[in-house]
Formats: sequence, C-alpha cells, structure tokens
Amino acid sequence: MNRPAQRPLPDAGLVDFDRYLDDRIDEGQFAVHRDIFRDEFLFDLEMKYIFESNWVFLCHASQLPKPHDFFSTHIGRQPVLVTRNAASELKAFLNTCTHKGSLVCLNRSGNRKFHSCTYHGWTFDTNGRCVSIKDHADAAYTPAFEAHSHDLQAVPKLAEYRGWIFASLNADVVPLEQHLGDARVFIDLLVEQAPGGMELVRGNASYTFPGNWKMQVENCLDGYHLNIAHKGFIEITRRRIARAGAAYKGPDIEAMFGINLKTGSFGLKNGHALFFTENPAPEFRPLWPQREQLAERLGAGRAKWLLQYGRNLTIFPNVQCTDNAVIGQFRVLRPLATNLTEMEIYLWVPVGEPPEARRQRLRQYEDFFNISSTGTPDDFGAYRNCQEGMQARAVEWLQGHGRGMGRMVRGANDYARELGIEPETCSEGPLNMSDETLFHANYRQWLRLMKEGQRRELAARAPD
Ligand code: FES
Ligand SMILES: [Fe+2]
Repeated sequence: MNRPAQRPLPDAGLVDFDRYLDDRIDEGQFAVHRDIFRDEFLFDLEMKYIFESNWVFLCHASQLPKPHDFFSTHIGRQPVLVTRNAASELKAFLNTCTHKGSLVCLNRSGNRKFHSCTYHGWTFDTNGRCVSIKDHADAAYTPAFEAHSHDLQAVPKLAEYRGWIFASLNADVVPLEQHLGDARVFIDLLVEQAPGGMELVRGNASYTFPGNWKMQVENCLDGYHLNIAHKGFIEITRRRIARAGAAYKGPDIEAMFGINLKTGSFGLKNGHALFFTENPAPEFRPLWPQREQLAERLGAGRAKWLLQYGRNLTIFPNVQCTDNAVIGQFRVLRPLATNLTEMEIYLWVPVGEPPEARRQRLRQYEDFFNISSTGTPDDFGAYRNCQEGMQARAVEWLQGHGRGMGRMVRGANDYARELGIEPETCSEGPLNMSDETLFHANYRQWLRLMKEGQRRELAARAPD
C-alpha cells in the first residue's frame, strides 16, 4: 500500500450555505440567492459535495448491451470508464492509467476486451485488471513496486435501476433504490411503455451552453417559458396549421394555452421532481395505436398516465427524461464551470417499434428537441442571457420560485395517491399557473448535500 498523501489543513472558514436559500414556506416565502449561479468557489464545492459524493447517472444499459462493450463518461470532474466484462457484468473504474495518469480509454463507446493505454502501453481487461506492463521483465522494478496493485481503481458504488446506470464515488451513499425513492414510479412508467423495453436510439447530440448547470435542472421542469421562449416554434406551428388545415398532424401548443389544460407537479424526496400536463392530443403519440394493449398490460390507471399526461422528470442532479406531448427525450448534463455546462441529448425509444412509429418519433424529435431544432436553441439562448444578467451583483435574490405556492400542498394530493407516492410537496392547477414549487425539492437537496459534504470533509480533517 502507498502511504496516504498529506491532507492540507482547512484554509478557509466554514461556508454558511443556509444563506443561499430563503426557505420559509409556512410564511409563503421561498427564494434562491443568485450567487449559487455565479460564484466560482461554490462551483468547486458543488462538484465535491454533490456530484462526487452522491449518486449520479452514468449511462443507460442500451449504450453498452454486450460483453466487453464500454462507455466512457464522468462523475463530476472525474473521468470514468464503464465496461461489461466477459460475463456481461457491469464494472466502473476511474479512467486514469496507474502508470502516469493518462486516460486509458479515449473513445466514447465501443467494444474492446482490452484497453491499452496510448502513452506507454499498459493494458487492462474489462475487469480493470492490469494484464500487461510493457517490457515488464526488463524493468528492474523493486519488490516494493511489484507489491502495488496496478489495476484500475474501481468506482466505489455502481448500481442499475431498470437499465438506468448510476454510480457514486462515495462508498457511504444510501442504496440506489432508496435514493431514487418515488422517482422510481416515473422511471417504471418510462420503461414499461413498451413490452420489449426501451432504449436510447444510436447517435446523439452533445453541446455546451454558457450557463450554470442548475438552469438546465430547472428548465426541464419549467412550463412557464414555453409560449414565450419558444414563440418561434409556436409561430411555425401556426403557419403549418394554416397551410395544412385539417391534414395537420401534431399538437397545437398555442391551443394548449388557450384551453388552459390541467397541470401538476411533485417535489419528490432527494431532490427529484416531476412536472405533468394533461395531453390535449394523445392521438399524436406514437403509442396511441397500442392504447388497448397498454391498458391490458399495465392497467387503466398507468396507461392513462402514459398517454394522457406529458411527464418531465428530473433525477437530481444530472439526468432528465421528458415524455410529453409527443415523444421521449433523455438529457444528461455535466457541469464544466460555473458558467459552462455540457449536455448530451438522446431520443428514448421502444425496442423494435414499427418503422412508421420510429419515423414519426425521429421527425418529431428533430423538430423540437434536437440541437438544430426549432426548440432547443431557444433554451440555451435563455440560459446565456440569465448567466449574463446575473452578473448584475447588486441584485441578490431570484423571484422565480413562487408560482403555485398558494396552491401547494405538503405530502400527497389525489394525483399522488393515484400513483401511490408520497411527495414532499404537490401542486396542481391550470397550465397558465405554471407551477414553480417543484424546484424547491432541487434546492433543498442542494442545500442538504452542500451542508453534509462540508460536515464530512471537516470531520475527515479534524485531528484525532
Ligand atoms: S500513462 Fe499509461 S502506460 Fe504510461
Ligand atoms: Fe424550453
């Protein structure tokens, strides 16, 4: 064993994280301080205490289905390699060579029995074992050196829930199922919509936007921006309808606001949240022709939740799945800096669906969600404007977390009872209410994890 490295003494005082959240919901007050979107020192602490100390989403099982498939990604700032070994068991390692630290795997995904480092050729198998040190026999290593493990370092916790693969660099996290809690009900709905299972379609778009990662966490759950930020899309839809008349096949977003559909939200435990909207035109969903089989297979209640309600789910802190008016999209976010975030977006599809349904899904995805679509660029334009606007330092608090508070309930409402879940808060109302209470769950978890991380770090540094 190597000797432990010397730890630096604490150099700064305690951070009072409570000052960033004004959480007094009993008095009708909840606000978030703008510094958590713009202060660089907080970004480093978020990486350490949120991303590198808790469960984060890595990838979906369909991205590495076969023995020796691999997928490289990150946990916070740290490079990670996920593999399947010969027995198809999932493994995850820090993607850093034990020799001089190079990334071992430079590719995003593929199939490889051995990963050979491109610097000096040390080679590792899909169990992370170092199987070859180039010119080992002539190396004149000492017995002390030979006694070290040269294997890749395993990620302490790796677990899968229904094909969604998560990991943690902290061995002390709660079991994954406990962490996901009631969010599992919505993952189940996403997974069970096809009898043969669901997968991410091959190919995806990756991009960065010049804004803080929490803007993306919020935006996925934000119905309020839809007919303002995306008014270009609404105008395009209006023209399509005018041109095609009764032959137009697709949802009319403008009309959705006109009839003020029913919506609701759940602030779930551990920072997860869900926003749902009644679907005005479920017949445009690729699943619609299978509605009878769905009701038979899943029961009328679950089939209703699948077809009649669009659902936008966030699993805090880094994965989101929307399954709304038309189709499903998967989003994985990675913070790169206070004001820079990387996004990977995928289309979420039933395995082996009929070509016509797949074609419809792909076209709808390209239309609104893909990077070159009529929708997604609006969002990151908005993030950039928020990030820049928030540089106005004299303004401290956001006013973006209060809509719906007057109708919020603690614990379950009828919608939650129907699903058998126990959210921290629920809200329901017309589409124009555009609830913002579900973000409270995200920020409460942010605060909890930041305080817990600081406590843990100080305890580890305290003299015996
Ligand atoms: S850094 Fe990997 S073999 Fe040298
Ligand atoms: Fe948007």
